[in-house]
Amino acid sequence: MITGHRGAASLAPENTLVSIEQAAKSGATWVEIDTQLSADNIPVIIHDKTVNRCTDGEGKVSELDLETLKTLDAGNWFGNQFEGTQVPTLEEALDKCVELDLTLNLELKTYDDKTIDTLVEQVVSVVKQKNYPLDKLLLSSFSKDALAICQAQLPQVRRGFICEVWNDFSLESLQELDLFSVHIDHQILNADIANSIKEAGLVLKIWTLNAPEKAQAFYDLGVDYIITDKPNEF
Ligand code: G3P
Ligand code: MG
Repeated sequence: MITGHRGAASLAPENTLVSIEQAAKSGATWVEIDTQLSADNIPVIIHDKTVNRCTDGEGKVSELDLETLKTLDAGNWFGNQFEGTQVPTLEEALDKCVELDLTLNLELKTYDDKTIDTLVEQVVSVVKQKNYPLDKLLLSSFSKDALAICQAQLPQVRRGFICEVWNDFSLESLQELDLFSVHIDHQILNADIANSIKEAGLVLKIWTLNAPEKAQAFYDLGVDYIITDKPNEF
């Protein structure tokens, strides 16, 4: 199963509506995007802690309110044909996924431990308010705390733990989160790790694989989902 990473990060400015559209156009049935809170606690779609890399503005996302974020250009850095592209809200991204019939892997970015509760609360609130189809959603995070709050607040939505390091105790510590999937950096995946994840009955996802010629080897290891910037090449 192919998941477009940050929409389709190699085809359009990452984490924008046009990037989500490119994922769908490539034939991906899943899309991964990153969410965090604006200063006025609105879940917005952007990866970095600051707006510096992916917009024409400067500063921490958490210190800019939605009105200010919406004045920034989030497309021109990628290519001038994308000028005028905005940082989307989660609400807008959910609408886009419904329109394109995509299943959403929503990554909760927890740059600040103190705001994890609010982030999950606000995400859950938008999902409920939009009446977004819960079977078309998976909530993922590097933060076990965030996933535990997701489990408490929206237990019927699948949860995925993202990791870039692995040890023998990892699975044990994940048990109570009742996960759907583990999303592992493809660079650290090996047969032992893959087997232990699959034996635990979990779905195995890798990120971020951009070399289609390596897909078969990962498939042979038991990988179920590939998260890629280049869904068109897969
Ligand atoms: O969700 C997998 C992947 O997106 C995690 O890393 O930094 O690209 O959000 P990052
Ligand atoms: Mg991500």
